[in-house]
Parts: sequence; C-alpha cells; structure tokens
Amino acid sequence: MWPNNRALDLFDIEVPIIQAPMAGLALSDVVVAVSEAGGLGSLACALLNVDQARSELEIIRRQTSRPINVNFFCHKPPRADPAREVMWRRRLDAYFVELGLDSNAPFPSSDRAPFDEKMCDLVMEFHPEVVSFHFGLPDKNLMARVQRAGAKIISSATSVDEARWLEDRGCDAVIAQGYEAGGHRGAFLTQDVSTQVGTMALVPQVVDAVTVPVIAAGGIADSRGIAAAFALGASAVQIGTAYLLCPEAKTSPAYRQALRNAKDNETALTNVFTGRPARGMVNRLVREVGPMSDSAPDFPLAAAALAPLRSKSEMAGSADFSPWWAGQAIRLFRELPAGELTKQLAAETQEKLRPL
Ligand SMILES: Cc1cc2nc3c(=O)[nH]c(=O)nc-3n(C[C@H](O)[C@H](O)[C@H](O)COP(=O)(O)O)c2cc1C
Repeated sequence: MWPNNRALDLFDIEVPIIQAPMAGLALSDVVVAVSEAGGLGSLACALLNVDQARSELEIIRRQTSRPINVNFFCHKPPRADPAREVMWRRRLDAYFVELGLDSNAPFPSSDRAPFDEKMCDLVMEFHPEVVSFHFGLPDKNLMARVQRAGAKIISSATSVDEARWLEDRGCDAVIAQGYEAGGHRGAFLTQDVSTQVGTMALVPQVVDAVTVPVIAAGGIADSRGIAAAFALGASAVQIGTAYLLCPEAKTSPAYRQALRNAKDNETALTNVFTGRPARGMVNRLVREVGPMSDSAPDFPLAAAALAPLRSKSEMAGSADFSPWWAGQAIRLFRELPAGELTKQLAAETQEKLRPL
C-alpha cells in the first residue's frame, strides 16, 4: 500500500500524514479530525499554559481514541541582554509613535515557555502516543519521563548533524525540515539561515545518515509532494501550511484571506517577529526591519516587544506587524475540512504511487 510502513507501524496510524503542530492555530478540532481520518493529529502547546493544554487534551481524548502527537518548544530561556532590548525598542520606536503607543511602556512578558516539569506532568497524565519537540530536545530527566509515559519521541532536524544528534539522544523518528517549511526553523545546532538545506536535498541525506524513520517536512502540500517524499526515502510527511485553511484551524479571517491571495515568492525567512528564524508572509515589518535583523533580541523576546504594535494594527485591519507563518508551497492549498483533506491527500498519493 505504501512504499514503506515504518512510520505507520511506529505510530500505529493508517495514513503516513502528520498534521504539523502549529502554535495558536492547531488545537483540538484539527487534531481530532486528522487522527480520526487515520493520520496523526498534532496539538501545538507552545502558546498554551498548562490549564489550556489540559483542556485541549481532555477534549481530544473525549473525541478520539486514535493516536495523537503533542508538541512543545524546548528552546533555552533567553539571556537577559538589556543593551539589545534597548536597541530593539529604538528600532521599533517610530512604529510605536505612528500607532500612538507608548514606546517606553514595559514590554509584556513572553507567552512562550519551554517544555518543563509541569508540561511533563501533563504528558504523564494523558499519555499521548507521540510527543514532538521543536528546537532540539529537553534535558535528560524530562526525556526519560516522556519515555516512561510510553510516548514515541520525535523532533525536527534541519541538517544531517542535527538528525544524528536527535537519533543519538533517543528520538524514535526524525522530522527532516527543509528550508521551504512554514513557521520556525527547528534548527538548534546553528542559527545560520544562509546554509539551511531544502527538503529535496535534506531528506535523502538524512535518510542515509540515521537508522530511525524519517518524516519529510517543508513545502509538501499535495500528492505530488508526498509521493516525492517517499521516493526520497521518507516514511511519512509532516504538513503544516496546507492545513491552515481548514475550517477547524484557528486561522483568523484576515490571515486566511492573505493566504488565499499569496504568491509563491511572498514568504521569507525572518527573525523579526520572535528573534528566531521562521518562514512567514512578507509584510511591512519584514520589508523594513528584516528579513534578518541583528537588533532582534533572543527568542521569544522580540515577539513580546512587538505585541502592542501587532494588536493595535490588527484592530485597524492592517497586517503590517502580523507574524503570519506560511511555507513556500503556499499556493497549493485546498479549503477542505481537515479529515477530508487528509483522506484526499492519502488517496491521491496512493493513486500516484501505484504505477511506480
Ligand atoms: C503556522 C505554522 C505554525 C507552526 N508552529 C509550529 C509549532 O508550534 N511547533 C512545531 O514543531 N512546528 C511548527 N511549525 C512547523 C511545522 O512543524 C512544519 O515544519 C512545517 O509546517 C512544514 O512546512 P509546510 O508549512 O510547508 O508544510 C509551524 C508551521 C506553520 C506553517
């Protein structure tokens, strides 16, 4: 049925499609729909506190008994760097003035905490079948607890070195995340965006370098991309951007409209929204301050500084400061319910693979 069943067997799923965790956008509705369709739905917890994550997990466990993935960021907490923060404030000053905001008001605190003991307690409580991390892995003790909870552990690699690093530290599968991918680069051994590798080149090199199953991610949005990923040796795909227009996603109406109108060359890798390289739609902030800025403070402090600009301009119907993540396959969307999209992608891929 599929060129290889390694991911299907590992995760006990029927369709080798993982709906990418998408912080703030992929909550219980999408997860249930994708898992019920036989794929692997992923709950993104990076922007949820423990209570919010618990209530999403309660909904999911009530609505499906199929395997699910629960996803966390595991970045190092940012170093305090007052000089850089002042520089970032000054860089944004003119926008605060333009929008009538007080640029000297303290920045709101960041809402992105790395995976910790409390979130790990939740993993022990709900026993998700899969736990995925972005930006490396948590420390050994947390890893051991997640393993004891019975979860398969996966994480993103953007290079062969990162893939080997993840395998050596106990990952059950590795997500090879190519340069095309929407959202944050999972990179953790380097932040040099100039050397990041595209999906087509990355996947087979990672497949050759590790023994665990490889999941291809980045720029995959239809059966052509999924078939290609299998041809490159992947055992599954992780798809993000193509799920953003599903009715179950928490994508705002303005974000949806921007996705519908976007062109293939209207995304960029930028650090101006959060302090860490991520691929999103090009807007005024990216054009004028980025795409990469040396003044941006460490992840996630840059985001906290921007929050007032973002909310004020969005209220006025502007996307000048909105971090609307999207990958390079932005035009390949279909506006279908997430379960239907998953099933269609699987059926069309099998059709494509049959004569091969
Ligand atoms: C809107 C958006 C939000 C994302 N948020 C997360 C996240 O919270 N955790 C994570 O591991 N990956 C996140 N990613 C990255 C995805 O896991 C994946 O690498 C990417 O979506 C694949 O590329 P594609 O968007 O071209 O399909 C996000 C991607 C997008 C598009």
